[in-house]
Amino acid sequence: MKFFLDTGSLAEIREAAALGIVDGVTTNPSLVAKEGVDFRELIKEICDVVNGPVSAEVLSTETELMIKEGRELAKIHKHVTVKVPMIKAGIPAIKALSGDGIKVNVTLVFSPSQAIIAAKAGAAFVSPFIGRLDDVSEHGMGLIQDVLQIYRNYDYKTEVLVASIRHPMHVVEAAKIGGHIATMPFKVFEQLWKHPLTDIGLDRFLKDWRQAKDKLATAR
Ligand code: E4P
Repeated sequence: MKFFLDTGSLAEIREAAALGIVDGVTTNPSLVAKEGVDFRELIKEICDVVNGPVSAEVLSTETELMIKEGRELAKIHKHVTVKVPMIKAGIPAIKALSGDGIKVNVTLVFSPSQAIIAAKAGAAFVSPFIGRLDDVSEHGMGLIQDVLQIYRNYDYKTEVLVASIRHPMHVVEAAKIGGHIATMPFKVFEQLWKHPLTDIGLDRFLKDWRQAKDKLATAR
């Protein structure tokens, strides 16, 4: 499973990337707005840090403008993936940008039919938002299961980018059913390796080791 960070924070991206297990980054207009910096500059800097796809979202909602904006975003860096929202006007834009050889991530996907359209239009990635579905009492992970099944049926190459992840179990559940990528906030990423028994166990090992060494030293 690939890990993407879902953030616009360069500090978080640098810290996570230093571990060597970050495969890409997703941003969205809300995440970028929080950083209060120039959008294009931020995307370029993220692309310089992470050796993998970096999603930058178009803000236009008309086909021709989306295509124009997507082409401009793609020029920023070879790592840029253009994020296009799943709206009617976005469908020809996904097709055109993908036809140009630009990787497209179809975002704001909440149903299997939307995911089929993303794949048919040639998207490299589809982003079903599982946390937001859970929030409205729908089964977010069920959507991932459905999309994976459908893509397998037709051998679609579009990768399922599990988005709107809220906790580590979302990552684990997505991995169990074969989700290709999990994009997660830095907070969730950090929770992936933490376990209280690991900390307790390590404290004990080191304490036992020190005690044995001290015993040997006094016996000499
Ligand atoms: C994905 O690309 C989105 O940026 C993100 O996962 C949305 O998550 P949220 O529902 O926590 O805002």
